[in-house]
Amino acid sequence: MRVLVTGGAGFLGKALAQRLLQRGDEIIIFDTSLSGLDNLHSAFGHRLEVVAGSITDMAALALAFKAHRPDAVVHCAAVVGMLASPMTAMRVNVEGSVNVLDAMRLFETRRCIHISSEETYGNFQAATIDEEHPQRPVTAYGVSKLAVEHLSRTYNVLHGLEVIHLRTSWVYGAGLLRHRVPKNLIDAALSGQPLHIPHGGDSAIDHTHIDDFVSGVALALDHADHPYDAYHIASGTSLTLHEMVDAIKGIVPGADISVGPGPYRYLGELEICRKGALDISRANRVFGYVPRLSFAAGAREYVDRSISGRCVPESRHAATA
Ligand SMILES: NC(=O)c1ccc[n+]([C@@H]2O[C@H](COP(=O)([O-])OP(=O)(O)OC[C@H]3O[C@@H](n4cnc5c(N)ncnc54)[C@H](O)[C@@H]3O)[C@@H](O)[C@H]2O)c1
Repeated sequence: MRVLVTGGAGFLGKALAQRLLQRGDEIIIFDTSLSGLDNLHSAFGHRLEVVAGSITDMAALALAFKAHRPDAVVHCAAVVGMLASPMTAMRVNVEGSVNVLDAMRLFETRRCIHISSEETYGNFQAATIDEEHPQRPVTAYGVSKLAVEHLSRTYNVLHGLEVIHLRTSWVYGAGLLRHRVPKNLIDAALSGQPLHIPHGGDSAIDHTHIDDFVSGVALALDHADHPYDAYHIASGTSLTLHEMVDAIKGIVPGADISVGPGPYRYLGELEICRKGALDISRANRVFGYVPRLSFAAGAREYVDRSISGRCVPESRHAATA
């Protein structure tokens, strides 16, 4: 299969591109930034094409589709984060996604896997929610991801495109450069620096290991007949930040890390909405998705990779929780 991965130089897109290359697919990465792709080039250069361009540039997208004629798209490119400015979120995430859908229509690429987000729900109304939970996003980022879901349905009705939305939770693991739990906690633990996050201990959040996320995307990409257009790809469980700190201390004894009570504040500023676990039974039933790594196992894997040098902690940033 020839798959065009928008945002393929980012955390999720690159891990996904690597998995698809490993199994023999041809990959076209379309991204504004092409840094950090050297290892993919040297391992899979003959089956990897990289195109520098923005999804907001319809001409650049059309040229990439015309040159490479992908069989499918995995759409990861986005401005990510709860503090994204409304204008940027709309221009890049919404307008850019419409360009991707138009390029698919023009060049007859039928299937797209869109990486959507639990942020489309806003405040969770229960400890565990399924895909039918009301979608009332409270951030511009969440609104932009929900708009893409709705707009894709228009392209399905009018043009027969099949866009599958995989709503995921907070993905963690090697390769994530943004400052976020558990990365900042694990990096502090490994570098021996004290880190106290003054808030957030009571926030329960679903954390998905990058390997499980990639497996879920690959399964959804391969599945022939989707009875739904939205699925959760997550861990299916949630843990509070208090529990997260305890788990990391169990892996790195003596770690001087702690978290205060109350809800988590994103980058210390924006109080996150009420979260919880994402029910993954639909993805399990339809295409056999089963996450393999509990948080403790995933955190241990991250620690082991860091210690073996394959993922170097950015200790100088550890205190910026
Ligand atoms: N990481 C998570 O925990 C998480 C959770 C839910 C949803 N998502 C979604 O997954 C996708 C990937 O997230 P990520 O964590 O890998 O983010 P990331 O920031 O690491 O990667 C995003 C990539 O998109 C590229 N990009 C940004 N604007 C672009 C544009 N105009 N044109 C082309 N490329 C552009 C960036 O250069 C980057 O390589 C996003 O759509 C995000 O909304 C991520």
